[in-house]
Amino acid sequence: MKKMKKVLCILLALGMIAALAACGSAPKENQALNEIKKSGKLTVALSPDFSPMEFVDSSKEGQDSYVGFDVSLAKYLAEELGVQLEIQAMSFDACQTAVSSGSIPVSISGYSWTETRAENYELSDYYYAGDNETEQVLLIRAADAEKYTKPEDFDGVSVGAQNASLQMDLVTSQLPNAKAVTIGEIGVGVMELESGNIEALAVADGNGTQIIANHPGLVKCTWEFEVAEEFEANVILIHKGEKDLLDAINAALAKAYAEGYYDTWYQEALEIAESASSVEVSLAD
Ligand code: ARG
Repeated sequence: MKKMKKVLCILLALGMIAALAACGSAPKENQALNEIKKSGKLTVALSPDFSPMEFVDSSKEGQDSYVGFDVSLAKYLAEELGVQLEIQAMSFDACQTAVSSGSIPVSISGYSWTETRAENYELSDYYYAGDNETEQVLLIRAADAEKYTKPEDFDGVSVGAQNASLQMDLVTSQLPNAKAVTIGEIGVGVMELESGNIEALAVADGNGTQIIANHPGLVKCTWEFEVAEEFEANVILIHKGEKDLLDAINAALAKAYAEGYYDTWYQEALEIAESASSVEVSLAD
């Protein structure tokens, strides 16, 4: 009996230490939402080279020049949190580095769900990706349409994909004998393809359609990547451990979905993308 009491005491003490430790570390891990509310500002990183999800309207200036589905979503999110939105535009891999280091809490930039991202970030629930995630394709020059029709045709051939993207994973896994070329900005990749520095560029299907509309010398290769179901929607990247912010974001996503905003935002994005002032930007950072 005495022994039991002692064990119980020790257990209780251990429990208290654990509880204290949890209290001590919880605010540190989970402070982004509080900070956003306190500062009245939500900062979102994005790489505006991915029309129609995020791109630049060159007829506008500053914050107003960032447009696209994800920008509408970011604005909605800030509104739901009751704060101002500040977009910080940077390259796609820099967006991911910023959220992983915690210098920026959130990035909305057309991210597909991937295993590595699930390990390194809090990932939101899925949201609408239009025709961007259902298919992943290769852009090639129209003159090469007959030359490249199956994976083996890319053996030893330079195939570009954006740095730190799902497309780069697909190139290295499904075209293992191609020469994978890392591209910082999608717009630069398009130039490399047109000038013959690379033979193909891996892009999301909807993004490819937008690119071809502005670059009629390019076509989609008839062969497409095989894409697992879990990649077929987009997620928001949140700094690891920021569970309160994650919950708030998921609540806003559910509300946007229920209110039927996704279709409207996508149609609006397509309309702006078709206007003459939409540009593929190249960002030096
Ligand atoms: N969906 C792809 C990925 O998750 C590409 C996203 C590219 N986004 C961008 N803003 N450039 O890697």
